[in-house]
Amino acid sequence: MMGGKLGTLWARAGHEVVFSYARSEQKLKRLAREAQGNAKAGTPGDAAREADALLLAVHWSRVDDVLKQAGDLSGKTIVSCSLPMNADDTDLAIAHTSSGSEALAKKVPTARVVSAFNTVPSEVLFGVFAARRKARKPSLVYCGDDARSKKIAAELIRDVGFDPVDAGPLRVARYTEPFTLLIAQLAYEGDEGPELAYRFERFGGKS
Ligand SMILES: NC(=O)c1ccc[n+]([C@@H]2O[C@H](COP(=O)([O-])OP(=O)(O)OC[C@H]3O[C@@H](n4cnc5c(N)ncnc54)[C@H](OP(=O)(O)O)[C@@H]3O)[C@@H](O)[C@H]2O)c1
Repeated sequence: MMGGKLGTLWARAGHEVVFSYARSEQKLKRLAREAQGNAKAGTPGDAAREADALLLAVHWSRVDDVLKQAGDLSGKTIVSCSLPMNADDTDLAIAHTSSGSEALAKKVPTARVVSAFNTVPSEVLFGVFAARRKARKPSLVYCGDDARSKKIAAELIRDVGFDPVDAGPLRVARYTEPFTLLIAQLAYEGDEGPELAYRFERFGGKS
């Protein structure tokens, strides 16, 4: 859901995209075909070799497997929307004293991890993209420890149609990841459907 949709939108925004990691290669090929942009299917290794940035969008239980398949990620920017959910998706398996994004950064210490896109449901992404030329954009928080990678992530966030909000270092994922459970509650348990984004407004202070 996240990888397929974000990859499609980035292809439509003009990026070269490699769709990888699924049990069916046909699915990846279909995604690439339907993206209507410069997109192709490949292995995680292909994606890692060629890309400036990698989106990690797998269930927490699949992270080790996909990282192994991706190979050497030294110096690569990994934008992760993956949440450290337990096996039955009822709770965060890592929280409060660490975060999934920090745990990921420990697994791949030579890569540069940015936590982004995990705070919105996949169902809202196409709607945000369709409204991207409007002045009033929804916010999207992101955090990370590497300035260059954060710049890449902010560009990818803007390309989807969000207003990127730099929340600081990667450890702030301890707050953004649980915040997502609130968003999920509103999106999936409310009456108005899952096409939900959020927007921060400032009042007073510096203008
Ligand atoms: N969905 C959301 O709205 C949302 C929002 C915020 C954050 N997130 C987080 O984003 C991450 C991805 O969520 P998602 O909903 O996008 O998941 P998803 O739709 O299930 O996508 C996961 C991908 O992993 C592949 N995969 C799973 N098991 C595999 C295996 N054994 N071998 C090879 N490929 C395998 C799936 O391919 P197959 O076609 O083979 O299943 C699919 O391409 C999760 O960590 C989630 O917590 C999701």
